Amino acid sequence: MEQQQKKILCVGLVCLDIISVVEKYPEEDTDSRCVSQRWQRGGNASNSCTVLALLGARTSFLGSLAGGPVADFIMADFSRHGVDVSAVVWQVKGQTPCACCVVCPSSGSRTVVLSDMNLPDVTVEDFSKVDLRQFRWIHWEGRNAAEQVQMIQRVEMFNSSLAPEQQRVTMSVEIEKTREPLYQLFPHGDLVFVSKDVARHFGFGTAEEALRGLYGRVREGAVLVCAWAEAGAAALGPDGVLVRSESFPPQSLVDTLGAGDTFNAAVIYTLANGGGLQEALTFGCRVAGWKCGRHGYDGIGDQFGAQRT
Ligand code: ADP
Ligand code: FRU
Repeated sequence: MEQQQKKILCVGLVCLDIISVVEKYPEEDTDSRCVSQRWQRGGNASNSCTVLALLGARTSFLGSLAGGPVADFIMADFSRHGVDVSAVVWQVKGQTPCACCVVCPSSGSRTVVLSDMNLPDVTVEDFSKVDLRQFRWIHWEGRNAAEQVQMIQRVEMFNSSLAPEQQRVTMSVEIEKTREPLYQLFPHGDLVFVSKDVARHFGFGTAEEALRGLYGRVREGAVLVCAWAEAGAAALGPDGVLVRSESFPPQSLVDTLGAGDTFNAAVIYTLANGGGLQEALTFGCRVAGWKCGRHGYDGIGDQFGAQRT
């Protein structure tokens, strides 16, 4: 299969986001009305699939679902966006995760309360059923990290079995939450996204400080990327050169939910299509900034779709 025709796979969470848009963030123990409310497919890996598909990439999602009306809504939305879901693992125990999201345009905040309780995560055994030949890039949203490390090792084995002229599968990981077990993902992947939250948790005050301070944790040759909301994003590769992009704030801030997932998708999209690191960061910030001026993701395709393929 031609490399460009191969798909990008994102592994991680899919959930239902019930999003209330409010004028002002509510006081605790009050009863107020929102400006609007909608259901949206959510979850970092699932959102990144949405954006990759809107940008024009062939995209697959791998995560867990439990049958029922929430999963029906999610599946219909995946299908509307042309995301391949043949790898989805249908669990017999547990419930599809659901998040109550409060989006507040006047402050730019997005507050999420996620119920992600009892649905088993995808295992390395589930992952072993996926035919790796169809992918050019696999992205993991850090979750059940020990299991995910084993998935990455499978891909490393697959890559080393390829003939020299065959293109390897590029791997990226996202370390977003401040959870100790996720930090074992640092030395895995060609590209590592570390969040502002994690960077702060380690005591760093800017993306640049975080990259210099955390680069020693990634494997030789890898690129570390750190997005920092209004401050844009930065990346550090094996040559030791720091690459930066400013942010591209929208005229008015509307919806920052999933800005990071949008950024990750646009970075991956650019690199998977042969773009450079500077181009990828700038495009990531451009698409994510534009998204912050709109509710949801759907306008991204018209605005930025298929620029490179
Ligand atoms: P998240 O909190 O959703 O994980 P970040 O806050 O790190 O994501 O933002 C990811 C990217 O989205 C940033 O690098 C930036 O380009 C863009 N972004 C986020 N918030 C804003 C904002 N308020 N104004 C402009 N761009 C933003
Ligand atoms: C946005 C998001 C939402 C989801 C939450 C889970 O980045 O993926 O769609 O509710 O984060 O943490």
